[in-house]
Amino acid sequence: MAHRGADMRRGDSTTAVEPYFLRPFRPDDLAAIVALWNRCLTKDPISEDRFWHHIVLDANFDPEGALVAEADGEIAGFLQAIVRRVPMPGVGTEPETGFITVFFVAPHLRRQGLGTALLKKGLDYLRQQGRSTVSCNGYSPIYFFPGVDEDYTAAQAFLRAGGFAAHPGAVAMGMRLEGVRMPEAVRARAEELRAKGYEVRMFERADTLPLIAFSLEHFPEYGDTIRDGLQRGDEEIVVATKDGEIVGYTQWENTYTDPPSGAEGRFGPFGVRADLRSKGIGSVIFYTLIERVVSRGSRYLWFGWAGGRNLSFYERASCRVTRRFTLYTRSLEG
Ligand SMILES: CC(C)(COP(=O)(O)OP(=O)(O)OC[C@H]1O[C@@H](n2cnc3c(N)ncnc32)[C@H](O)[C@@H]1OP(=O)(O)O)[C@@H](O)C(=O)NCCC(=O)NCCS
Repeated sequence: MAHRGADMRRGDSTTAVEPYFLRPFRPDDLAAIVALWNRCLTKDPISEDRFWHHIVLDANFDPEGALVAEADGEIAGFLQAIVRRVPMPGVGTEPETGFITVFFVAPHLRRQGLGTALLKKGLDYLRQQGRSTVSCNGYSPIYFFPGVDEDYTAAQAFLRAGGFAAHPGAVAMGMRLEGVRMPEAVRARAEELRAKGYEVRMFERADTLPLIAFSLEHFPEYGDTIRDGLQRGDEEIVVATKDGEIVGYTQWENTYTDPPSGAEGRFGPFGVRADLRSKGIGSVIFYTLIERVVSRGSRYLWFGWAGGRNLSFYERASCRVTRRFTLYTRSLEG
């Protein structure tokens, strides 16, 4: 299973890293991998606890795709290739698609082909799993980043050199909550909606089954998120109803998407039934949640992945883009 480094040397200008191995992740790698992650991914520091819960305890985790590079007895790099083995509501197992979720090489060992060796083995793993395309990133619902941060310029150049095509568009956003209240126009809209049979209010336990059913039908990709969050006691949820039926919701600090203890200020998921959009229901939900969490002491709201049409909603609500990501894809055929 171990691979020696001779095939990694490329021409006279590169220094061979001897000896090196690529091998599957072992639980006793945890401390060294997390330490190297924190040296390499400076915008995304991680604790051992979060690595363990996000990555190792992910239902799709396979150590054969979690590749460790070892050089001179030290951890020199890491790359995770993963496929959905457990179907996710709404997307199934995505049988064509494999994912690269994270990769890094120790700074002093870069530009010597180690990243390329990790990538090649990761792509081979995805081919063995029968996948024909690879996406970096786009893996959900538990993710660290939706794509490659625009500030990780070496990683961007590396993936382009590896034959990946770039698709910009995903952003992370946030807003300070001090002094934020529901704008008067939104409050007036809430009144109009109420007269038409809508209600926007905090979740109650009686909403549990209708909310899970709503989520699975209209936002299947959030179905597990809402149920698992509830299972962990995350009941900071706002629901919108029309004549008693749930038509929208949002959730605060869901611990399922940020195991084990949740990320402070993390907003979402958030959704309004497709046929009832553009009526102001989303704004009423959004500010109802904000007023609630501000009253409980929250000072900041953020989320890690927005794009497309929902961007203009958040921009109008004074959220700022805090990070920009590029999604990379390539074919695994040929
Ligand atoms: C991206 C990274 C893993 C590359 O590792 P590496 O071992 O240096 O990669 P390689 O030596 O195999 O590079 C292969 C090719 O990628 C391109 N490349 C890699 N780093 C580059 C850089 N800093 N600038 C320009 N091109 C670069 C080059 O084309 C290179 O070939 P060359 O050296 O013959 O010119 C490494 O820079 C890193 O760990 N970065 C920080 C982690 C990160 O940002 N990860 C992304 C988030 S998941």
